[in-house]
Amino acid sequence: MNINNFPVKIAGFGKCLPQTVITNFDLEKLVDTNDEWISTRSGIKERRIISGEETCSSLAAEAGKKALESANINAEEIDLIICATSISDNLYPSMACEVQKELDCVNAAAFDITAACTGLIYGLNIARSFIASGIYKKILLTSADAHSRFLNWEDRGTCVLFGDGAGAMVVTKSDTEENDILYLEMKADGTRGCELKIPLSGKNCPLVEPNTLKDSYVKMNGKEIYKFAINTVPESIKQAVTESGLTIDEIDYFILHQANIRIIESIANKLGINKEKFFVNLQKYGNTSAASIAIAMAEAIEEGFIKTPSTLVLSGFGAGLTWGTAVIRLRLK
Ligand code: ACO
Repeated sequence: MNINNFPVKIAGFGKCLPQTVITNFDLEKLVDTNDEWISTRSGIKERRIISGEETCSSLAAEAGKKALESANINAEEIDLIICATSISDNLYPSMACEVQKELDCVNAAAFDITAACTGLIYGLNIARSFIASGIYKKILLTSADAHSRFLNWEDRGTCVLFGDGAGAMVVTKSDTEENDILYLEMKADGTRGCELKIPLSGKNCPLVEPNTLKDSYVKMNGKEIYKFAINTVPESIKQAVTESGLTIDEIDYFILHQANIRIIESIANKLGINKEKFFVNLQKYGNTSAASIAIAMAEAIEEGFIKTPSTLVLSGFGAGLTWGTAVIRLRLK
């Protein structure tokens, strides 16, 4: 759906990765795996994980701070902080409230959303809806996950794939008539939720029924998630591009959720698009879930991969199952 009452601008980007690097060779010491298997199946060479004083929300706050700096916006100007996350530090308070505290965004409301690896796309839609409707003018959208806390480090099928990190965007009312979000769709299919899950630990009241704690680890049907991604995402991208009134060749860059190089290459092939248009950094960070698109955006701009003005497709897919695509125009100075 297109909503254009007030034009929306994406004004700044930031990212923050933990200090500790875990290479595939480090994982060889932990589980029965090897660099060759991980590299060829996923493209991942290393990932970062939180340690010491680092938390998921401290990464989100740092990424948010950088996004505010790049947008040249003060913390007190922010009306709302949204944090897209699946791995909140606490069930409550929300990560967004932690970010609000850390950055001193004294005038901001704050809440989290969960749409797993599609969280950034869902968050962007919420942010633009608040701005397009005139309710808010300046929103800090953060996305952060720390799967390292919810991986079974004895399960080679999952522990090699994920990494921790955070990204952020500042979304504001545009001072021109131009709208940076040309089209955005978000989708869900709860019937397939069992394919990728972190059950929450906890038990029913023992006065009512005895129960045992469940393990809160990532459980994934890798083959089904792979098929879901390569079948769903190309269709979602095609539809979003058409609804924007563009052709696929008019898209300058594709920033996809960074889960797996084979998924990205397969999507590029299905769309008939040169792989050079796809920014990839999963070799360094693994799958950072909700954070991956915002990290990739910030890094692609920092490294000069993205030149502006340009037209981009952002597309996410993940647990829920959820997926979504945004077509955006970037006009950074
Ligand atoms: N190291 C070595 N061997 C391994 C490892 C490992 N880390 N993990 C699994 N294997 C073994 C399996 O045990 C199996 O051995 P077997 O044939 O003796 O039984 C063999 O490798 C093949 O296993 P498969 O599961 O069939 O491997 P597959 O080719 O499907 O690749 C993978 C697995 C990489 C997970 C793939 O299914 C995939 O890319 N899925 C997409 C899921 C994804 O990217 N998830 C990320 C999170 S979801 C999201 O962000 C949307």
